Amino acid sequence: MNWAFSAFAAGLTSETAFDVLAVARRLRAAGKEVIELQIGDSPFPTPPHALAAAHAALDAGHTRYAPSLGLPEFRAAIAQTLNREFALDLTADHIAVGAGAKIFQTFFCEAFLEPGDAVLVFEPAFPTYLPNILRRGAIPVLAPLRPERHFRPDPDDLARFLRQHSRPKAVFLNSPHNPTGSILLLDDLRAFADLLRGTPVLLFSDEPYCHMVWEGKHHTPLSLPELRERTVAAYTFSKSYSMSGWRCGFAVAPPPVIQVFGKLLNTSLSCVPPFVQKAAQAALELDEPTRNEQMNQFRAKVNLLVTELSRLEGVRVRRPAGTFYVFPDLRLWCQRFGLTSHGLAMFLLEAADERRGVACLGGECFGPSGLGFLRLSCAESDERLVEAVHFIGQTLTAACSSGPQAERLTRWRQQHPQFHWPR
Ligand SMILES: Cc1ncc(COP(=O)(O)O)c(C=O)c1O
Repeated sequence: MNWAFSAFAAGLTSETAFDVLAVARRLRAAGKEVIELQIGDSPFPTPPHALAAAHAALDAGHTRYAPSLGLPEFRAAIAQTLNREFALDLTADHIAVGAGAKIFQTFFCEAFLEPGDAVLVFEPAFPTYLPNILRRGAIPVLAPLRPERHFRPDPDDLARFLRQHSRPKAVFLNSPHNPTGSILLLDDLRAFADLLRGTPVLLFSDEPYCHMVWEGKHHTPLSLPELRERTVAAYTFSKSYSMSGWRCGFAVAPPPVIQVFGKLLNTSLSCVPPFVQKAAQAALELDEPTRNEQMNQFRAKVNLLVTELSRLEGVRVRRPAGTFYVFPDLRLWCQRFGLTSHGLAMFLLEAADERRGVACLGGECFGPSGLGFLRLSCAESDERLVEAVHFIGQTLTAACSSGPQAERLTRWRQQHPQFHWPR
């Protein structure tokens, strides 16, 4: 059969983290010792009350369909928690439960975008924003996040977007930010509110790392009355509660939007499994102490990784204001080797050493402005984080001198023209 894929499906790009994960697991199965810092997952177990609630819910028979928007008591518990944590005044009618945060990118685009609408995306950005915008035939407009601004979005880019596009429809925001670790300040949101006043432009505010803020506090556009009416915010249990495999998240939006999300859920997922919702509700209500303890451990891991990386010659690293990612600048090394940062990342994983490897991602997997940076997550033990940085340091130095490491690098470069540093 000659499958005639749609142009959209044929051109679909996806999250590189999952591709690198597959390579890392293949190498591991073949006996290689791999330190896995490629994917944004938690090294901690799901907290105890969530686990116990899932077992109890299964035993009690919560194993069939549930309302598409989520169990009413769970939606109410989410609203109460957000009200307490971020000083909001939401009700269950503002909440839709879905399988993680990612699905709400799709639903937001399906709910609002028409072909030809322009959508502003600051990059580097989470890789699934673009496919979801393109899915609707809308036009992603990229604006760079700059190291000089600590990777915070520049309101001038929003002003230019509004001026230059005849059909500006939406802006994607993500704070705390994956991959750079930046956070939006209240002043940034105020500047955005000023520019958006009187326009029909909507915000998709992606906030999976809302509990991982290491400097200042988390600011959601939902907390500004002038932004709240134009905002859909997405949250997840994947990061704060170490529940990435349970696939549970939620969106916050005005009730008419939630009603449309109900139809989108109904016509796609039907619902999130009720025993998963019961587990997530228990996490919200009973596992906050465990969550806070795990967040403290993440903060310590991020600090450790930054300290270790800052010892490496030619590597510039900034302490992230949030998230469990560190985003060091290795442009000097990339230029010296003639390799893109993802080329360097794959060399560290596959070819630098036969017995050992480190898995991470090149910043360009998140957009052109990420070129020359690496994204390392903290999803391993402290000892292995330190080991990973030593491995990177040794590899960089050895690849510069004449010897087997340098030969490996030359060979790697010859075999992978797609990884050549752009001239
Ligand atoms: C910025 C961002 N958005 C969305 C997601 C997806 O979260 P979930 O696993 O809850 O779908 C992630 C996960 O890494 C993320 O980093």
